[in-house]
Amino acid sequence: MSENKTDATSRRQFLTNTSRITGASALAGVVLPHVHAAENNTVQVVLVGCGGRGTGAAVNALSVTNGPTRLVAMADVVPQKLNASHDKLKTQFSGQVDVPPERRFLGFDAYRQAMDSVKPGDVVILGTPPAFRWVQFSYAIDKGLHTFMEKPVTVDGPTTRRMLKLGELSVKKNLKVGVGLMVRHCRARQELLDRIRAGQIGEIVAMRAYRMGQGGGTAGPKPEGVGELIYQIQRFHAFLWASGGVFSDYYIHQIDECSWMKGAWPVQAHAVGGRHYRGDSLDQNFDTYSVQYEFPDGTRLFFDGRNMKGCRDEFASYAHGAKGSAVISTLSHAPGMTRIYKGQKMPTVLSRKDLPLPEDPSLAWAFPQPEKSPYQWEWDDLMEAIRQDKPYNEVQRGAEASLVASMGRMAAHTGQIVTFDQMLNCQHEFAPDVDKLTMDGPPPLRLGADGKYPIPEPGLKKDREY
Ligand SMILES: NC(=O)c1ccc[n+]([C@@H]2O[C@H](COP(=O)([O-])OP(=O)(O)OC[C@H]3O[C@@H](n4cnc5c(N)ncnc54)[C@H](O)[C@@H]3O)[C@@H](O)[C@H]2O)c1
Repeated sequence: MSENKTDATSRRQFLTNTSRITGASALAGVVLPHVHAAENNTVQVVLVGCGGRGTGAAVNALSVTNGPTRLVAMADVVPQKLNASHDKLKTQFSGQVDVPPERRFLGFDAYRQAMDSVKPGDVVILGTPPAFRWVQFSYAIDKGLHTFMEKPVTVDGPTTRRMLKLGELSVKKNLKVGVGLMVRHCRARQELLDRIRAGQIGEIVAMRAYRMGQGGGTAGPKPEGVGELIYQIQRFHAFLWASGGVFSDYYIHQIDECSWMKGAWPVQAHAVGGRHYRGDSLDQNFDTYSVQYEFPDGTRLFFDGRNMKGCRDEFASYAHGAKGSAVISTLSHAPGMTRIYKGQKMPTVLSRKDLPLPEDPSLAWAFPQPEKSPYQWEWDDLMEAIRQDKPYNEVQRGAEASLVASMGRMAAHTGQIVTFDQMLNCQHEFAPDVDKLTMDGPPPLRLGADGKYPIPEPGLKKDREY
């Protein structure tokens, strides 16, 4: 059922009117022009991984208002992806897109050639599947490039240890690095955090989060004429080596935002999950995941993920405190529409028509609407740091968020309790030679004699997920 315009307007108006305080954080991000190191003050941008999010990040990079930016090189392994992205960006930002055919690079080395096209102090966007993050970030550090890289930044223990070291190196080189956990840059969530820290809902005693949708992460048979490696890469949500699966790739945001509000990373996870209706899909995911994350003080975050058609969907995160409760996310990542309720009772919002009404006496505060997209805020913040030379490096927290996601996933996939330290020190590297892949070479995951890829088997495989 779609909500009519009058209702929508009055609810937005209500959310505006119920805002009592605008935190200082809401004003952050107002930037002054600053002379960039490049002689003409233009920050050059390179896009590696020209799919949906890479192209979206390029849109954000070209939309910042604190100084000129120009896209000058692009890299991908699939020509159609690069071309479609280029055409879209050129149409939208014709004067800011200067990527002639000789600066469009294809193949597993394309990221190097694209980064070789710019100077230290310029910016690279890493919008490839997570498996390639450490490889391409290493080169960005070598080239002295500021970096925006999408989440997750790691998929297992060994790559997390590697990424933490790379993060330290990038800090030493004063590189500014943003990680695509954009909710951290959302002014609504920042104000909610200020309010939680000020005690408005009291001590947090429990948290809940749900990412339940109509499927995802499946992989049908490999089409004729497509190499097995490209097949896996194009379905990266299906394969743990490429993405950490739907668990890491989809759920990381909410696990991260809850941990942020709680002010700590969980120390351990136990979880259940299973494959119920995967049919002939060749992927490695479960249909359902239910995880209890435990924080150092014993507080639990209960996370439910489901990828199953025909079931009730919900996409939201909640914090319950001794004096009230809070909505961290509702109806996806953006807009935040953060709210605080006076008690523990709050309506479940499954569509905009369920948003609280003006006269709802249970509501204590709501962030004013409309809100700017957190995907743009994260770029405004990154570019401000670059232009003003402010400390700005999100690698450690990005790697830790990725690790905590892996911890919950491994708990479900093995049927064991997995601690933060166990996950960090886990020896199973899913794709040890991911930096040496070639178009015709073998993929990191091989089909078994039964024509299927290995899947997790909780209780049978306990030390590794497959
Ligand atoms: N922050 C968010 O809300 C958000 C939303 C969507 C996706 N993402 C993240 O963005 C990343 C990409 O996701 P997507 O949805 O854009 O996927 P996508 O498949 O649309 O794009 C990935 C692109 O990378 C290319 N690619 C793959 N391997 C490559 C390599 N080795 N070198 C160069 N190019 C390569 C692919 O051909 C493709 O064009 C993932 O990490 C995903 O989790 C984040």
